[in-house]
Amino acid sequence: MTSFPRPAAVVGAGHYVPEKILSNADLEKIVDTSDEWIRTRTGIRFRRIAAENESTCDMAIHAARAALASAGISPADVDAVVFATGTPDYFNIPSCACLLQHALGIPHAYGYDLAAACSGFVYALDAGATAIAAGRADTVLVVGAEKLSAFTDYTDRNTCVLFGDGAGAVVLRASETPGVLSTVLGIDGDKSSLISLPGGGSRNPPSQRVLDERLCYWRMQGRELFKVAVHTLTQGAQDALAKADLSLDDIDVIIPHQANARIIEAVCDRLGGEKAREKLFLDLDVYGNTSAASIAIALSDAVSQGRIVPGSKVLLTAFGGGLTWGAAVLVWGGRA
Ligand SMILES: CC(C)(COP(=O)(O)OP(=O)(O)OC[C@H]1O[C@@H](n2cnc3c(N)ncnc32)[C@H](O)[C@@H]1OP(=O)(O)O)[C@@H](O)C(=O)NCCC(=O)NCCS
Repeated sequence: MTSFPRPAAVVGAGHYVPEKILSNADLEKIVDTSDEWIRTRTGIRFRRIAAENESTCDMAIHAARAALASAGISPADVDAVVFATGTPDYFNIPSCACLLQHALGIPHAYGYDLAAACSGFVYALDAGATAIAAGRADTVLVVGAEKLSAFTDYTDRNTCVLFGDGAGAVVLRASETPGVLSTVLGIDGDKSSLISLPGGGSRNPPSQRVLDERLCYWRMQGRELFKVAVHTLTQGAQDALAKADLSLDDIDVIIPHQANARIIEAVCDRLGGEKAREKLFLDLDVYGNTSAASIAIALSDAVSQGRIVPGSKVLLTAFGGGLTWGAAVLVWGGRA
């Protein structure tokens, strides 16, 4: 069953991560932390860090080209670009969607950036599938990309051990057969203080004060976020399954937002224990939390490793700052 009247097949995926690797041992030299603390509390061993002159869109260009190539689709066929990011190249003008459209040589498309923090990719997937269902587009390029390192305070051990950079993309295409089966989305601004980037917007415009008070970096209440994350990731997954009229038994691969291995472990306990764990795909140990890029990178990674093959049913579940959450069930339709 699909909740989209005109099906959107997921026909290609690609990802890109920057060359530079930041290990736990490297972080031990920067802040008061240890490889053991980071591994046992988060499951993260490495993250990729973009070069100084490498932007979010630069990374997305590589991921999008790979996704289009894997789908066998030319840029000329793309009707819409939905670009999820919380770390755009510029403060909204020009959008990353415009920069990407130009770089890829997409001749006729509409597009926009979408900010839903770590849930961004699921929001973008929903937007793409909805555009196809409504007949607005036949082919949509859906991107999640982040340069989180640009807004990470490398003097704050609470946050700097978690985040990495990278980009992922998928191609959605109007189809006779179902691709995106269901999506569920939600927000809760009541908990907006749990993770924020206070400076740089209209509340605290760029100024010397913003720099002096380090307002241009992420702030986070980790312990509270942890609890909310476990709840929303689990609820989202259950709701997306119910909306697609499926159970966990029908799912081949589960891709949660790659935030923290202990959060994901707790979600698996609630979703079905060992049965859920066996279906998990994780790459957070090598990439860390890449926010809107996290699920997009993992999806593409799972395809390239042969964990997802044509016909695989995949459950995605995400949560992020705002708060936001989103989950989806899809059938992979790309080439083997
Ligand atoms: C951040 C997180 C890993 C911290 O793990 P935790 O088990 O909750 O740890 P706590 O916050 O209870 O902190 C325990 C202690 O470790 C310390 N600590 C924090 N970061 C540390 C680090 N990198 N190295 C060593 N010690 C650290 C804390 O200061 C605290 O010390 P104190 O007890 O003396 O105050 C965890 O809460 C988490 O992952 N939360 C969700 C974060 C997230 O996903 N954010 C992205 C949202 S999309």
